[in-house]
Amino acid sequence: MIITAFLALCTPSLAAEQSNLHLMPAPEQLELRQGKLRINGNFSVTIAGNHDPRIISAISRMIQRVQQKTGIPFAPSTVIVPAPQEAVLQIHCGDKKETINHPTADESYQLEVTERGARLSTASPTGILRGLETFLQLIDLDKESFFIQAVKIEDRPRFRWRGLHIDVSRHWQPVDVILRNLDGMAAVKMNVFHWHLSDDQGFRVESRKFPKLQLKGSDGNFYTQAEVKMIVSYAYDRGIRVIPEFDMPGHTTALIVAYPELAGVPGPYQIERSWGVFDPCMDPSKESLYVFLNTFIGEMAALFPDPYFHTGGDEVNGKQWDASARIKAFKSRKKFKNNSDLQAYFNQRLQKILAAHGKKMIGWNEILHPALPKSVMVQSWQGQNSLIESARMGHDVILSRGYYLDHMRPASFHYGIDPGDIAGLTNEESARIIGGEACMWAEFVNPDNIESRIWPRTAAIAERLWSPQDVKDVRDMYRRLEYVSRELDALGLKHQDNHLAMIRRIAGNQSIIRLKQFADLLVPTGLGPRQRSRKYYSYTPLNRLVDAVFPESDTSRHLNDLVDDALIKKSYSSESSLLIREMLTGWIDHESLIEIKMLIEESFLLEEIKPLLEMVTELSQKGFEALRYLESQEKPPEAWQIESADLLTRSEKPIAEMLPAIAIPIKKLIEAANALPER
Ligand code: ACM
Repeated sequence: MIITAFLALCTPSLAAEQSNLHLMPAPEQLELRQGKLRINGNFSVTIAGNHDPRIISAISRMIQRVQQKTGIPFAPSTVIVPAPQEAVLQIHCGDKKETINHPTADESYQLEVTERGARLSTASPTGILRGLETFLQLIDLDKESFFIQAVKIEDRPRFRWRGLHIDVSRHWQPVDVILRNLDGMAAVKMNVFHWHLSDDQGFRVESRKFPKLQLKGSDGNFYTQAEVKMIVSYAYDRGIRVIPEFDMPGHTTALIVAYPELAGVPGPYQIERSWGVFDPCMDPSKESLYVFLNTFIGEMAALFPDPYFHTGGDEVNGKQWDASARIKAFKSRKKFKNNSDLQAYFNQRLQKILAAHGKKMIGWNEILHPALPKSVMVQSWQGQNSLIESARMGHDVILSRGYYLDHMRPASFHYGIDPGDIAGLTNEESARIIGGEACMWAEFVNPDNIESRIWPRTAAIAERLWSPQDVKDVRDMYRRLEYVSRELDALGLKHQDNHLAMIRRIAGNQSIIRLKQFADLLVPTGLGPRQRSRKYYSYTPLNRLVDAVFPESDTSRHLNDLVDDALIKKSYSSESSLLIREMLTGWIDHESLIEIKMLIEESFLLEEIKPLLEMVTELSQKGFEALRYLESQEKPPEAWQIESADLLTRSEKPIAEMLPAIAIPIKKLIEAANALPER
């Protein structure tokens, strides 16, 4: 973001810190001006140029949100006024032709705000959608009224593919969840919804040509074609393309339950109820498979208007291919050296079918093969290598490695992953890296907690993909992320509400103040450790504290920032470290412990957190003592050093599938105390 202060030209990060604006994603260029545009009952909007219906509906949604943000009711007749010069917000949209749902839509916009009014100008309707989100994020309040800071913004995305992938197979997600996530995506200017509609655990779309798919493969949880059309249109209105994914030839158990004749082994088959990589797989040697796929893809191609169509292709274990004499004979007839060659053959056939239905193919990076047609796009999830290799081999490619939300990493981790950070590529090759996607795999998410796993962290990924590469100040990102999280809450997303509802349920609807404070010190473990901790099934309740706690502990991050500042300044007196002491004593303090212990006694869902409470108390005690050593500059005795090292080691082992996030800043205090010189 280039922010120019009124008189002085600042470096981007300095200017961002000086500014109180909370735009996310940060715009490409922002010039702060003097003055404020007051938002009052006279608020009005006018449109000149292109009157695309999407602009009209976007304006009416925007007006509702301005009303909601300010509480000021606007009379309908003042909303779109005929005389442009009198409107508070003037919208000018050029006539640049946009191909519907095209990945090269022009999303750029200019927004100029003065004391007298605001003007949003773009070449195309999609730019208006993006600019209106910026306009909404600028609304603030001071002692006098609601206002928008005078600014001049020129903005455009760095990457043209900024996606969110949601798996609706492993746990079903109803329509309202999808719609709310689309609202969230639009608010942070994301433009691709990648809908993972089939996997071993469920086939989730109504097919009229092959109704057994939903009848036998979905447990009754699938989207009707009318629902799909409504969702696609809702997304389109918000400038979001919808890419369906039907994973094949592996991850197809649910599909094969319906049509076992498509597999290489006769079965019988059942919908998969657990997590992992499974054997059922389509048999690429059967001509009847391609007949089926041609009809099926033809039907789905008409339902999903986007030119791209995702066919998965990940984690084919090849066991059924190796077990079938027919497939082995086919491989040797075709002179295929291995299963990768066989999958490449399947993908070539698939690509031709997709092309015949007007679709471009995308697949996970396992599809990469010298025989893969160059028109196929690759989604890199296993490492930078596949990103580089795809670009070198001539494929467009997007990055998802580092954007897996189910790994429960902090926003700062995802924020540090940049698809543009790849060295050693020519300009032509780099240009093939067209963006990235956050991935919400659903082994451990259900409608109760999916939003708290996606938001607000995905906003940090959205910024990485939209904003200039030099926007990377982590503290400033978190400052704005907290704001955006509240905005998303106001927009109707349930990442906060559902989290509280889950904690209330765990507490038997008792007062949750203490439990909530405690939960805010913890983080859940990610997919791998949870899967290793016990056997999970799709029907295992996700109603424990690990399912409710946020993926990231804001309390621990705030403590961490305070500790970092104290360590840098070497300032540990009771006064300068007051906040740190307060945060730590909260968990040594008798009253809160008694209250939470009483809750634990009354809820079977809390029994497992007893040792975690002890761990947090021990950590807080040690952190407090470390601070005392630092204040007195007295090196701790050896026994204390051994004890604290043991505590830190124990704190890295999950309890009830959670970790105490405060261990990170406390470790810094302990290490600094241990590093004090002998006196
Ligand atoms: C994947 O995570 N199996 C694409």
